[in-house]
Amino acid sequence: MSQDQPQIKFAERVHRVKPSFTLEMATRATELRERGEDVVNFSVGEPDFNTPENIREAAKRAIDEGYTKYTAGAGMLELRQAICRKLERENGLHYKPSQILVSNGEKQSLYNACQALFDKGDEVLIFAPYWVSFPEFVRLADAEPVIVKTVAERQFEPDFDDLEAKITDRVKGVIINSPSNPTGGVWSKEAVERVLKLAAEHNWLVIADECYEQLVYGDPFVSAEKLNTVGAEVLTCLSLSKTYAMTGWRIGYAAGNETLIKAMSKIQGQATSCANSIGQKAAIEALTGDQSSVAFMRQKFRERRDLIVQLLNDITGVECNLPGGAFYAFPNMSYYLGKRANGKIIEDTFDLGEYILDTAKVVTVPGDGFGAPGHIRFSFATSKEQIRKGIARVKHVLEKLN
Ligand SMILES: Cc1ncc(COP(=O)(O)O)c(C=O)c1O
Repeated sequence: MSQDQPQIKFAERVHRVKPSFTLEMATRATELRERGEDVVNFSVGEPDFNTPENIREAAKRAIDEGYTKYTAGAGMLELRQAICRKLERENGLHYKPSQILVSNGEKQSLYNACQALFDKGDEVLIFAPYWVSFPEFVRLADAEPVIVKTVAERQFEPDFDDLEAKITDRVKGVIINSPSNPTGGVWSKEAVERVLKLAAEHNWLVIADECYEQLVYGDPFVSAEKLNTVGAEVLTCLSLSKTYAMTGWRIGYAAGNETLIKAMSKIQGQATSCANSIGQKAAIEALTGDQSSVAFMRQKFRERRDLIVQLLNDITGVECNLPGGAFYAFPNMSYYLGKRANGKIIEDTFDLGEYILDTAKVVTVPGDGFGAPGHIRFSFATSKEQIRKGIARVKHVLEKLN
């Protein structure tokens, strides 16, 4: 069809939903690199390590042994059993395989959950700074995201005054994400318990996105469901992506109320049938095999976190709290807003990110896109050498501004 053909009239939801701008930043980094630029990329949302060898070998075996067919829609029973054992062992949670849905990445589980739960007129509470997909999942379900403020100095825990002020009888759910993308914040048990209590009182469904559960650098992680002594309905969503450096394998899962899992499964069955069979076999090895690579990667991320936070705080005017988890530093850089670059005022972090990219050849992700004006996200899923080089460049170009 030629470009001159009449324009296609798209469904309204296409206009409603925003493209993933974190992916756009990553694409820009790749384009610059392909043009031969010496780019430092702090925009990536995935571990820079390869998938551990035992998992790769399991996938190769799966292909040779013929695990190349459709599986049960909710995932292979053997994998769902392995997930139940993992949840018992690491999270102290008891589930049956019928309470587990394996998806093409946790992203699909989260999408399915929103499709299964929310309708037009419903409101869903989301804490800012938020992972960019949360409001879009809610919008794609025709419901309304309601954004709640958090406190940067306290690991971006909820601002409970704001939370209380946002309660209406239209609120049907709440999404929590600790450790968080984009802030790396890890909420205290008390903060999670307060949200659970409100959820139980108001009958909200709690979607707990815990994909960074293994990347915590302080006290051991505790699942929201483990803290749920008040009888809230919690759907726990987890992923193999970050823990086992398996982002491209697309395996994630949800654990929760059997009827909800069934409803989500029905939607998934019509959308994608099942998650890929080879990835599922690899996931069984990931969850049941040697876990030493998880501790190795965690230690590497911890060292990088300490380095990047120290270097960021050395930049004039930049304030960066120590994130408790994940692989993101989320400094406040509002000191540089209102300054001039090439005669143009830097109005927001989109402008600031652009300036850093153009002049320092460093790719970051502007906080405005995460509902966090003044902040910029730096992923430290990259080597210490790149961190030193990239932050030195950022410091140089920022301190030139006036
Ligand atoms: C907060 C959060 N939830 C979910 C996901 C999706 O993970 P998956 O690769 O399992 O779809 C990501 C990936 O970046 C994430 O940052």
